[in-house]
Amino acid sequence: MQNTNTTLVNPFYASRRTPQAKINALLPAVPRNMSPVPHLTSLYHFAEAGPYGDRSYPGNCGGNLIKDLLRFFQPESVFDPMAGSGTCRDVCQELEIPCQSFDLKQGFDACDPDYYRGIEPAEFIWAHPPYWRQKIYSNEPNDLSQTATLEEFSSRYQQFLQNCSTTLKSNGHLAVLMGDYFDQNAGYVPLTYLTKQFAFEVGLKQTCTDIIRFSHNATSSRKVYRSSFIPGLHDICMIFTKQ
Ligand SMILES: C[S@@+](CC[C@H](N)C(=O)[O-])C[C@H]1O[C@@H](n2cnc3c(N)ncnc32)[C@H](O)[C@@H]1O
Repeated sequence: MQNTNTTLVNPFYASRRTPQAKINALLPAVPRNMSPVPHLTSLYHFAEAGPYGDRSYPGNCGGNLIKDLLRFFQPESVFDPMAGSGTCRDVCQELEIPCQSFDLKQGFDACDPDYYRGIEPAEFIWAHPPYWRQKIYSNEPNDLSQTATLEEFSSRYQQFLQNCSTTLKSNGHLAVLMGDYFDQNAGYVPLTYLTKQFAFEVGLKQTCTDIIRFSHNATSSRKVYRSSFIPGLHDICMIFTKQ
């Protein structure tokens, strides 16, 4: 359910029948404005994914955020270079917006500029890359989730953002959904910070507020860990403009 005064149940506690089973957060009121999508704010909470893509696909994201962004920016063409199960393509089909949708699983290497030769410039690009090696998507050596070091990941990820920038029409928008990553070897890797750094370096400007997407139904929310840490319950959608 989505509304300015919605109270939220923290999924971590909700999944455990403890005395703290329900923690409700009252969201701030939204200032009235002329947005065609008034519920689209910097805090995105939509527990239902919608009938888009395949929820069982690893790393699948719900389609409602994509739909709200498309309704807000109203592009006439969309490109999704890391499509996974095709969530963005399905949203575009519903909204009747032409969408070019590819993934490494169909042989399209989004980090290699040579693969962009036949791609039509688009007014909006939806990019949902691997959060480095948090999930391994395939054994292909050019899979971004297979990069062995942060340096290698960064170099290919920056090239990916460069490719997106080249494919974006002037005044078009690139939306990147990314989460920070942690493992024992690498420590805490601020991938959202790196996304902005690389996007700025390839000449993109930030368009608007970051959108903090609450991670409802993440598999990690159902696990029990033996260590103590501050759980991250969100990822971030960053929107950039090519001027
Ligand atoms: C987070 S998933 C995208 C999930 C998608 N948003 C969905 O809802 O199903 C990341 C995707 O990036 C793809 N990928 C990884 N490296 C790639 C590359 N070099 N070129 C294109 N796609 C790549 C993976 O195959 C995976 O499908």
